[in-house]
Amino acid sequence: MVYLIASIAGIAGLLFGFDEGVIAGALHLLRAEFGISPLAEGIMTATVPLGAVGGALIGGWLARPVGRRKLLLGAAFLFVVGALLSALAPSLILVCVARLLLGLAIGVAAMIAPLYISETAPARIRGMLVSIYQLAITLGILGAYLVGYTFSDSWRAMFAAGIVPGAALLIGIAILSDTPRWLVLRGRREEARAVIAKTQSLPIDDRLVTAELSAIEAAAQVDLAQGSWRDLFGPVARPALIVGMGLFLLQQLSGINAVIYFAPTVFRLSGFDSTSTQMLATVGIGVVNVLVTVLAMGLIDRIGRRKLLFIGFAGAALSLGLIAAAAATGSPDLQILALIGLVLYVASFAISIGPLPWVMMSEIFPLHLRGPGMSAASITNWVFNFIVVLTFPVLVADIGLAGVFSIYALVCVAGVVFTARLVPETSGISLEDIEKHLKGGKPFSALARSVKAA
Ligand code: BGC
Repeated sequence: MVYLIASIAGIAGLLFGFDEGVIAGALHLLRAEFGISPLAEGIMTATVPLGAVGGALIGGWLARPVGRRKLLLGAAFLFVVGALLSALAPSLILVCVARLLLGLAIGVAAMIAPLYISETAPARIRGMLVSIYQLAITLGILGAYLVGYTFSDSWRAMFAAGIVPGAALLIGIAILSDTPRWLVLRGRREEARAVIAKTQSLPIDDRLVTAELSAIEAAAQVDLAQGSWRDLFGPVARPALIVGMGLFLLQQLSGINAVIYFAPTVFRLSGFDSTSTQMLATVGIGVVNVLVTVLAMGLIDRIGRRKLLFIGFAGAALSLGLIAAAAATGSPDLQILALIGLVLYVASFAISIGPLPWVMMSEIFPLHLRGPGMSAASITNWVFNFIVVLTFPVLVADIGLAGVFSIYALVCVAGVVFTARLVPETSGISLEDIEKHLKGGKPFSALARSVKAA
């Protein structure tokens, strides 16, 4: 059962990454076939994050009345339909519509899959499962790059490949039940008991089942007492909201998705002439992203969050600065410098700026505001993802790669300042202590110091 849940998490993450990354390989073919302007290119690419903003809103709104399972089922269905439609689309408008549907599916899945895991998985392996989800996103991106490399002359085949993981998710969810937490919230106690019994290893111990059911009922009470969105802006939660939304704003404006969605374009602008070399270098970026994410999984709880964020933002600012300087001066070594710069940039991102906003969004909000707080943070993620992807082609046409990467580098410098002034150190501190500190009204960034002093 646990393996089944882990695979669902994995497939949802894979789809997230796949639908982000697949445009990288398809773009030059779409450009050639439809002769699109930079603005149209931005709009077409940005339909995925735009749909995801809608999906995240819908997911947050319907998770309780409709249930986690039915929403995931709907998302899986949309993944398949969206992949099919985008593969068959006779015009650019229909490609956009199909990508909007895929975006909706990602938005829903990216919000509901982690919720499904955290509500169904036994506590001792929950952290590991959330990490699997993270890793799966990067594997999905790499998978999309490999598909782009393999079917290098057919964007339709690239888009069609998305049907496979979509169908796998559909089948996986179809045989799962809803989460015990949701069943309890709907007053379906006996069904909840049956689901808990299924997740335990044999022989089933009735006392353990009852104990877990009671714990879930207690947690569900908190869920029912969830504060409103307005409370998020109140004096207690506001510092957490600023950190949660701020980290995602910085994560996205650091330009990561200009690289993830447009990597071959970036390589072309850096002097890589042949499409197959551009795609090969892109695959290399995907591999670095996966490997460093594995490394990050081992480091996050050992090195503090703040230290890791400093390393990430500083590393990203320097590597983006290197590429921008090489491009601005027309350096004869632009190719190699861009390659080194991009590898360092993606590594700095994957070790820190990538995973940490996700980790921190699940720990900083007071319990009764965790639901709305996490929604606000992930909507911020998609809104700024959309802005970066929409504007990249136009900005490149107007101010060149050097100009755009300089802007992203400056954002990373702002990330260092933001971390220094506002981000608390949460590693090794209990969620209860974080909440107590917020209620005490002292600066959020003084968290670790005041918990130690107490
Ligand atoms: C970000 C995505 C990004 C991915 C790259 C995630 O943490 O939220 O927008 O594409 O990392 O690995």
